[in-house]
Amino acid sequence: MTQPSVYDQILDFGNRANPYPLYAELRRTPVSRADDGTCVVSTYREIVALLHDPRVSSDLRNRPDYPWTDGEAGPGLPPFFIALDPPEHDRIRRLLMRHFGPPHDPDRIVSMAPDMAQIVGSLIDDLAGRNEADLVDEVAYPFPVTVICQLLGVPRADQPRFRAWADGLVASLDPTTGDFPTRQLRRDKVSAELGAYLGGLADADRDRHGRDMLSEIIADDGSEGRLSREELMSNMALLLVAGHETTVNLIANGMLTLLRYPEVLQRLRRQPELSARIVEEVLRYEPPVQLITSRTALDDIEVAGTTIPGGAPMVLVLAAGSRDPEHVPHPDVFDPDRPENEHLGFGGGMHYCFGAPLARAEAEIALPELVRRLENLRLVSDPPPYRPNPILRGPRHLPVEYESVAPAPAVRGHDRQAAERQLHHA
Ligand code: HEM
Repeated sequence: MTQPSVYDQILDFGNRANPYPLYAELRRTPVSRADDGTCVVSTYREIVALLHDPRVSSDLRNRPDYPWTDGEAGPGLPPFFIALDPPEHDRIRRLLMRHFGPPHDPDRIVSMAPDMAQIVGSLIDDLAGRNEADLVDEVAYPFPVTVICQLLGVPRADQPRFRAWADGLVASLDPTTGDFPTRQLRRDKVSAELGAYLGGLADADRDRHGRDMLSEIIADDGSEGRLSREELMSNMALLLVAGHETTVNLIANGMLTLLRYPEVLQRLRRQPELSARIVEEVLRYEPPVQLITSRTALDDIEVAGTTIPGGAPMVLVLAAGSRDPEHVPHPDVFDPDRPENEHLGFGGGMHYCFGAPLARAEAEIALPELVRRLENLRLVSDPPPYRPNPILRGPRHLPVEYESVAPAPAVRGHDRQAAERQLHHA
């Protein structure tokens, strides 16, 4: 029997806890072929070049194996804008970004800091009176989900319903759960259900004029035009899901890494203002999004001496690029003091993550609070059990033990300025 390609070994769940030696092997051939013909790109320079290359499409309808004919979207919602090319991508991104933060509404995220500190603080309060907890189920998951619900205006009480849809969409990204057409059909079905739910909320919202994003976007009559109802449903579903698993993994990967580097953990306890550098290094060293699997070459593209043929599906291995020794010295060392830290954690080019300020803020608030308040924190199992997904990679559970829970800090008293200062500092 022939040995599976390095990429196929990366997809194998047996390698989920530590894929980094395989990424190093992959980088020896900057553009390699997976067993199904997908072109796999693993070096920093080449990934950055392709993220900015107009011959590379994010629109899955350009794939030869797209399950619906005539370039049409399937039933359900129109594609998320993350899966569109210009000009549609740019129009929708602009219309959504106006409501999300910089440059149009720069205070949006910063003004949420006190609420975020309060939410994370009360989740940590709930860990008192015992000596063990699962940091994924008890903090890393409920925290960002509560925040994104608040931001979008989705009732927190409906969370069990949309968790199932979010899980379905995330699973449809995972190449180990079926071939591309099968996964696309599943994705269309789940997104139609989630879209119908969000449509119901939007109808209820229309007259409410709230300060949440859904109400604001519905009421937006800006000069740039409006999103159609279908576009609104589709992209609210995207934001709801994008704000889920990724930030969960950033907080969980961050805590796991700090527990493996106790001297950094101790520094963070003493100096919470280190938090921004630590979060940035986690994004490089243990990135929540390891691979981008949604690109297709529109034409033959020459990369590092190899031709990616037009029509070929591509995978950009962000996590391998961020540990490329040609780009960053001592890439396998977790070092928040690096003078330069340009990583691929949020992608790059026109699809650069627009939730980055929110994700950073959440992790920069959660990590120092967790290490400050949980006394004598230690890991119960290393490695912890992982989620199956190789793309959005992170621990399924993070069982820890601790001696006690320290009292809540000053920011809990709604000290808005202190929380905002912490973020500005970051
Ligand atoms: C740690 C948390 C996060 C990570 C690591 C992350 C990572 C990424 C990456 C790598 C991309 C690029 C995808 C591509 O090029 O195909 C992306 C795009 C995107 N992210 Fe995030 N993300 C995070 C959190 C969030 C949050 C909280 C939101 C929104 C609430 C969000 C919304 C988006 C959107 C809408 C796009 C598509 C942008 C576009 O196509 O122009 N992300 N993210």
